[in-house]
Amino acid sequence: MDKIIIEGGKPLNGNVTVSGAKNAALPVLAACLLTGGWHRLENIPKLRDVRTILRIMAQLGVVFREEEGAVMVNSDDLNAYEAPYDLVKTMRASILLLGPLLARYGRAKISLPGGCAIGARPVDMHLKALVAMGADMYLEEGYVNARADCLKGAEIFFDIQTVTGTENIMMAAALAKGKTVLKNAAKEPEIQDLARMLRGMGADIEGDGTDTIVIRGVDRLAPTAHTILPDRIEAGTFMIAGAMTRGDVTVQGCRPEHLEALMEKLQTAGARVQVEGDRVRVRGPDAIESVDVTTLPFPGFPTDLQAQFMAFMCTGKGSSVIRETIFENRFIHVSELLRMGADIEISGNQAVVKGRPHLLPAPVMATDLRASASLVLAGLVAEGGMTEVHRIYHLDRGYEAMEEKFRGLGASIRRERA
Ligand code: EPU
Repeated sequence: MDKIIIEGGKPLNGNVTVSGAKNAALPVLAACLLTGGWHRLENIPKLRDVRTILRIMAQLGVVFREEEGAVMVNSDDLNAYEAPYDLVKTMRASILLLGPLLARYGRAKISLPGGCAIGARPVDMHLKALVAMGADMYLEEGYVNARADCLKGAEIFFDIQTVTGTENIMMAAALAKGKTVLKNAAKEPEIQDLARMLRGMGADIEGDGTDTIVIRGVDRLAPTAHTILPDRIEAGTFMIAGAMTRGDVTVQGCRPEHLEALMEKLQTAGARVQVEGDRVRVRGPDAIESVDVTTLPFPGFPTDLQAQFMAFMCTGKGSSVIRETIFENRFIHVSELLRMGADIEISGNQAVVKGRPHLLPAPVMATDLRASASLVLAGLVAEGGMTEVHRIYHLDRGYEAMEEKFRGLGASIRRERA
C-alpha cells in the first residue's frame, strides 16, 4: 500500500488553490439520476470517493464523459436500481442514491452502510422520512429495499441535523407530489450547493441554508450545468497547516464565509488571518496559544476539521479542550498522535491536549480520512527524522493531489508507491 513520507520542520509558504468539495460533488452527482439529458458538472474533484459513486452510477446505466475539464453525466438509460455492498462498504455516502432512485425509478436497493471508524452512523432518519413520503421499505440481507409508485410531499422533522439525510430527502421531494417541509434541516454550505443544482434543474426549493426547507414537487426536471463549490475542509486543512508550521500560506479559490468558525479559532491561537475576496492568508504565530474547540453543525466548528485542529494544538503553549459532539468515536487520530509524542487524554467525547514544544517523527496510520490528514499535519512539524503515514488511500478519498499541493508550499513530502 502507498505511504506518504514527510520530513517535517519547514514553515510552509506560498499559495495553494482549493479543489471542488467532495461533500458537494457526491450529492450533486446523485442528483443527476433525477432526470435524463446531459448534465455538465464543473470543478468535480479527482477523488476516490467520486470515482466510487461514478462506478455505482455506471452500474445503474449512467454514462459519463469528460469535456473541457467538465464531467458530463447522462442518465437517459437508467436501467438498474441497486448499489452493491462491495462498493457501498467503501463509501457510506452511497446512501445518497436512495432518494433520487426512488423518485425517478420508483425502486431502489442499496446496501445499508454499516458503522465506520468514526461511529455507528445510522441512516434511520433518511429511511423514516422516505416512509413518511409513502415509500415501502424492508431490509433483506443487509440491503434496504425501497419502492414507491409515487412519492408524496410530507412534513418531516429530523431529530438530529443530518447532512446527507437532508440532501437525500431534498432530492426525493423535488419530484414528489405536493409540498415537503423539512424541519431541523442541516444548514451546511453543501446543502445550499445541492439546492442550487436542483433549482437549475427546475426544482422549487426555498429555505436551504436555514433549518426549514420547503420543496414543492414538480412533474419533471431538466438537465443543467453546475459548478461545485470549493472544499471548505480542504481549505481549512491548508489554513491550519500554515498556522501550525509557523508559515505564511494563502489559500485561494475558497469561500471564507464558510470558514468563519475556524478563522476565529486560528486568530485566538495567535495566527494572523487576512481575508481578501476568495483568498485567506494565514501567518503562523511564534508561540501557539492553546484554545478550546467544540464541534457543531454549520456554522459551528466542523467535525471534519477537528482532527487537524487537534494536531495543531499538540504544540500549543498550554492546555486545550476539544469536544466532539457530532460523532461518538472521532478520536482515532489520538493514539497515533501519542506515538508522535503528543500529550492527549480522552474522557468521553472530550480530549484534553497539553501542548508540547515538539512532535516527534514516527510511522503512523489512521482508519479515517480526516484523522489521516491530521497525521500529515503532525508530520509537517515533527523534526529530526521522517514521518511515514500509512494507509493513505483514506487521504485519497477526500484530498486531491495533497502531497503535490504541500510540496508547492515548500514541504518535504513524497508518496512512496507500494
Ligand atoms: N445520524 C443518525 N441517523 C441518521 C443520520 C445521521 O443518528 O439517519 C447521526 C449521525 O450518526 C451523526 C449525526 O447524526 O451522529 C450527523 O450525521 P450526518 O448525517 O450529518 O453525517 P453524514 O451526512 O453521514 C456528512 C459528511 C461527513 C461529515 C458529516 C457532518 C458527506 C458525504 N459526509 O456525513 O463528512 O462529517 O456530514 O458534518 O457529506 C468527511 O468528509 O470526512 C465526512 C465524514
